[in-house]
Amino acid sequence: MNTVRLSKSCVGQEEKDAVCRVIDAGYLGMGKDVQLFEEEIADYLGTELEVICVNTGTAALHLALLCLDIGSGDEVLVPSITYVASFQAIAATGAKPIACDVTADRVFIDLEDAAKRLTKRTKAIMPVHYASDSQSMDAVYAFAAIHGLRVVEDAAHAFGCVRHGARVGTVGDVICFSFDGIKNITSGEGGAVITGDIELARRIKDARLLGVEKDTDKRYQGQRSWSLDVKHQGYRYHMSNLMAAIGSEQLKKVNKFSEHRKACVTRYRAGLAGVKGLAFLDLNYADIVSHIFVVRITDGRRDRLMERLRSKKIECGIHYMPNHLLDYFKTPYSLPTAEMLGCELLSLPLHADLSFADQDRVIAEVLKLLAS
Ligand SMILES: Cc1ncc(COP(=O)(O)O)c(C=O)c1O
Repeated sequence: MNTVRLSKSCVGQEEKDAVCRVIDAGYLGMGKDVQLFEEEIADYLGTELEVICVNTGTAALHLALLCLDIGSGDEVLVPSITYVASFQAIAATGAKPIACDVTADRVFIDLEDAAKRLTKRTKAIMPVHYASDSQSMDAVYAFAAIHGLRVVEDAAHAFGCVRHGARVGTVGDVICFSFDGIKNITSGEGGAVITGDIELARRIKDARLLGVEKDTDKRYQGQRSWSLDVKHQGYRYHMSNLMAAIGSEQLKKVNKFSEHRKACVTRYRAGLAGVKGLAFLDLNYADIVSHIFVVRITDGRRDRLMERLRSKKIECGIHYMPNHLLDYFKTPYSLPTAEMLGCELLSLPLHADLSFADQDRVIAEVLKLLAS
């Protein structure tokens, strides 16, 4: 029996050919392919905003905060249930991630709890589009406007999703995507920052190339900056042509990938509907391309179910352990909903190559255990 993968890089001959083309062209670093990928992303999203590609989603978050001049002594509100990348990106600037509780139905930042954690030092809020959902963003932007905060959307899960009829990434302050190996599209590793703030975009473009001023323009013309100046801290965070070439091929397949992910989610929701001890998140599935399919196991048997699935060669996961319980990010306060969800959340296999036959195996095993 084959192993049913939880997630997977779905790449084929097209990506292999694209990589070979870049290798044959003799320059793997950052150049025209990155510029092209950025333009293609903007076209796909239908956005006039600036798209800046970097080498990971974590780098996208880090640079967004850094170039907003967030640093030591500042605080950033962030939901406790997220990938540790959100917390580390904040901490990397010298600022303090302030863990907030999440809503039980959508695992989204709980603004009532966030309001309690505001201080004079709070500079930004980083909502996370958990399991690709961002339907509550209007409330986040209203909250940010009242409290004078910048908004950095961690949209790592949300490439290809729609909010109020427009693609995520077309509206907002700063939006960060991840293109790591298992995301809705991949460039091997990779990420992008999107913003309409022209000055911020300029800072980020320099900061991804060690702070070298206007190095992006030079590289896109196939040149180098021999005479240069640096005014801010920068990092080696740029995307390479090799990565961009993979990303461009993935973008051609995004509609096919999205349809398949959506079809799998529809099948899970039909196959597991009404099962005692299992609850779906209250997401607007019509608008989202699910990066992960998460259910809550509410009868205390989540870990037993995980063991059983693994014994049947079915991978599953936990997205995520609450970050405020980790040693490095431990809080003196508790976050009851995040802590409850930390014991309930279960991710079932989902990727663009998942076969319906394999998915039926997953559904059957979940039903067997929860019915017993
Ligand atoms: C919610 C969230 N934020 C940030 C990231 C970081 O992205 P990357 O892995 O590309 O650095 C991820 C990636 O898994 C993520 O899931």
